[in-house]
Amino acid sequence: MTPDDVPTVLVVDFGAQYAQLIARRVREANVHSEIVPASITADEVRRRGAAALILSGGPASVYAEGAPSMDPGLLDLGVPTLGICYGQQLMVQLLGGTVAHSDVAEYGHTELNRTATDADGLLADTAASQSVWMSHRDAVTEAPDGFVVTARTSAAPCAVIEDDQRRLYGVQYHPEVSHTAHGQQVLEAFLYRGAGLAPDWNPTNIIDELVGRIRTQVGDRPVLCGLSGGVDSSVAAALVHRAVGDQLTCVFVDHGLMRHDEGRQVEATFRDHFHVDLVHVRAEERFLAKLAGVTDPETKRKIIGEAFIREFETAARDIYADSPGTKFLVQGTLYPDVIESGGSDSASTIKSHHNVGGLPDDLDFDLVEPLRDLFKDEVRALGAELGLPDEMVQRQPFPGPGLGVRIVGEVTRERLDLVRAADRIALEEFAAAGLERELWQSYAALLAVRSVGVQGDGRTYGHPIVIRAVTSEDAMTADWARLPHEVLARISSRITNEVVGVNRVVYDITSKPPGTIEWE
Ligand code: XMP
Repeated sequence: MTPDDVPTVLVVDFGAQYAQLIARRVREANVHSEIVPASITADEVRRRGAAALILSGGPASVYAEGAPSMDPGLLDLGVPTLGICYGQQLMVQLLGGTVAHSDVAEYGHTELNRTATDADGLLADTAASQSVWMSHRDAVTEAPDGFVVTARTSAAPCAVIEDDQRRLYGVQYHPEVSHTAHGQQVLEAFLYRGAGLAPDWNPTNIIDELVGRIRTQVGDRPVLCGLSGGVDSSVAAALVHRAVGDQLTCVFVDHGLMRHDEGRQVEATFRDHFHVDLVHVRAEERFLAKLAGVTDPETKRKIIGEAFIREFETAARDIYADSPGTKFLVQGTLYPDVIESGGSDSASTIKSHHNVGGLPDDLDFDLVEPLRDLFKDEVRALGAELGLPDEMVQRQPFPGPGLGVRIVGEVTRERLDLVRAADRIALEEFAAAGLERELWQSYAALLAVRSVGVQGDGRTYGHPIVIRAVTSEDAMTADWARLPHEVLARISSRITNEVVGVNRVVYDITSKPPGTIEWE
């Protein structure tokens, strides 16, 4: 999705979960990056005109049976290369150095000591002794000819090696993880100094390019976009609107399971501000009728998912009724989705099992996916640049079935109103405490039990509300947030005072695993 002449760093993926993180860090250094499989050939790298290569870490030992290797020709191209962990070891092995099984493994924080603190190179201007993040057993014990060892640890005698002549570099540790002191600085030293790249890429200066591609793809055909109120579909819609204006129709299926004010905000942003042709399908009654009496979580999900698709299809049929021919559907697919669904052959294939709120694969549409090359942070930056409101571009992930999975038991209008009111208070207090951006997700859930309380002069038999707030990197794992007690106290007293029917508030202190982020 970037012009061919944008200098691009190819991150060769040896199967570590770190490849995406490396690609993101490179982009944070304002250099464009892409992840490529370990099977990439030297010819392909040359054809793509790679500006630099980064060989990622990998879970295996270079001596393990079936350990991933690479085309040795990659190291003869004259393309500046940085090997990280497994990538360093593989490079060393291919260039005639020695990688040995070490008796001592290093995991986690490790002290790295520079050999010459006055030297330029990867570690220039960093501390003589610094804490780095390690995860290895094998280690390079002898660097290939031409390399200088510039740092070591107690178990890694060649922890940083540099060959300025050939512009080949290797580090045993992980500069891409945030626990490594000077990690970003070292990556930038490789990019700017080692590879001579300029920090002139950023996700917002590619808007014109993306707009041009959308125009070429859709010509003068109508384009449809399903809006959910979430970040990805909103930014994709704003971008397509910038490209083709009123050829775009957005469909917002409002199932009535949104958080407070979200439906109104979709209207305000897209219809009132951008003047997008917006079809607001007010389907709350129909969803609630289908959900009446249903308490099983999976059945609820299924009902909501199917009803969503039916509503969308009906709206789409109307839009294309007078315009036979190719139909285009905008999707907010992001780069991690592309990688995880096989864009790179060895990256983790773990993928969220949820697709409720999404659309089935067999819809008869050509897809317009303008965000395919971008990470979430970049999509947020793009959204801000396109003029979307901050509340929208910074929004937390929200499940397709919405509050339907945050109400344990039957979903009724009364119970929706109750959980929405409590959720609104919790969000207001998180925002007031400046915690919003630190939390991956935070919300109120309503349970299907009652508890006894005392309010005013009398005993009550009311509904407990659960507050859930988690930190996470990717929703695959999560930890409960260590919230300040004052914030919890305010949330509790406001909810019990302001939401009639609630007499108890509990805080969920379960990580994932064993819990999930949602309650259902
Ligand atoms: P769990 O609850 O499994 O959720 O830890 C992981 C992430 O997925 C979101 N989630 C969903 N998203 N449809 C979606 O589109 C769903 O049915 C669904 N269920 C959970 C959840 O909010 C979290 O970010």
